[in-house]
Amino acid sequence: MKVDGKHFRSIWRERDGWSVGAIDQRRLPHEFVVARLASCDDAAVAIRDMLVRGAPLIGATAAYGMALAMREDASDAGLKRAYDTLVVARPTAINLKWALDEMRASLSPIDPVERAEAAYARADEIAEQDVEINRGIAANGLKLIEAIVSSKKPGDVVNVLTHCNAGWLATVDWGTATAPIYLAHERGIKVHVWVDETRPRNQGASLTAWELGHHGVAHTVIPDNTGGHLMQHGMVDLAIVGTDRVAANGDVCNKIGTYLKALAAHDNGVPFYVALPSPTIDFAVNDGLRDIPIEQRSGAEVTDMTGRTADGRLETVRIVPDGSPVANYAFDVTPARLVTGLITERGVLKPDRASLAAAFPERITAAVE
Ligand code: MRU
Repeated sequence: MKVDGKHFRSIWRERDGWSVGAIDQRRLPHEFVVARLASCDDAAVAIRDMLVRGAPLIGATAAYGMALAMREDASDAGLKRAYDTLVVARPTAINLKWALDEMRASLSPIDPVERAEAAYARADEIAEQDVEINRGIAANGLKLIEAIVSSKKPGDVVNVLTHCNAGWLATVDWGTATAPIYLAHERGIKVHVWVDETRPRNQGASLTAWELGHHGVAHTVIPDNTGGHLMQHGMVDLAIVGTDRVAANGDVCNKIGTYLKALAAHDNGVPFYVALPSPTIDFAVNDGLRDIPIEQRSGAEVTDMTGRTADGRLETVRIVPDGSPVANYAFDVTPARLVTGLITERGVLKPDRASLAAAFPERITAAVE
């Protein structure tokens, strides 16, 4: 997607052919800084410290981390060490394990002398595949937006609510939840996005708003507790969110607060869609609500906020009384019954076991292996 007219991806191979460039998302929206990852450890730290984040981008970064590791030590022990280091860099987003399993499966049978080159080639493919998948999500999601357009008065705006950042910054390009929005925008459809700020880390306010704004898509940032009111007053035509992991039964794990938006959408008859690339499906988890462990993150995300002061400095301030305990559950699970449909690269699916299995049979085998 574009940043002020210039095309960017969230991650790329640098001109030297081996190191990896990535947008440092911790600095947005205040500063646009590119980081250079030059080792497997750099990639692991980038994932762990959320320099990069978003399930598909975490997967792509891990793939490049494996390639960087193969330059350092392409032996079987080196392969295992890289896998073990990267796989624990973040929990929840199953794309991380998917990408590492893909890398390991392609590299294990190869002579170590050839592994580094093969690893870069496979990592490039994984990154490219993400973009292709998201184009598919865009095309399938666009049909939903077009259906709303045709039910409206000519010239009316389609209002989409989204949560967290499932935009191009969370993927290699296009995003998942935002892919249909960007395509609609490209096709000249009047689309406006309600952007949940997404406390505690504010990925909506700082990242989604930034990328939509720099690409020229109309949007409004709202406090997280506003969505229900907007839905009650007919101001949301549909909600589209991303996800970090979808269980075999169609339950959706996503950024904390997603469940509450799904409840509000259900109560108000607003369609609630989840956009996901197939590597986000975890067929090894049968029941998402019961079996997906929920990451708890540092209380500092709740107690502290960073922003720019009037004189241009970045400053972190505390907003909670000293000594008050805080809780920071990073994700929640939205039961499949609250999800209208899953927007995938192979169509809009019912959120249930049979539909997921029929659309992605090859992923079931992978989960069982
Ligand atoms: O904590 P983050 O920023 O890694 O949050 C994860 C996400 O980006 C989201 O949950 C997102 O909506 C799904 S990833 C496309």
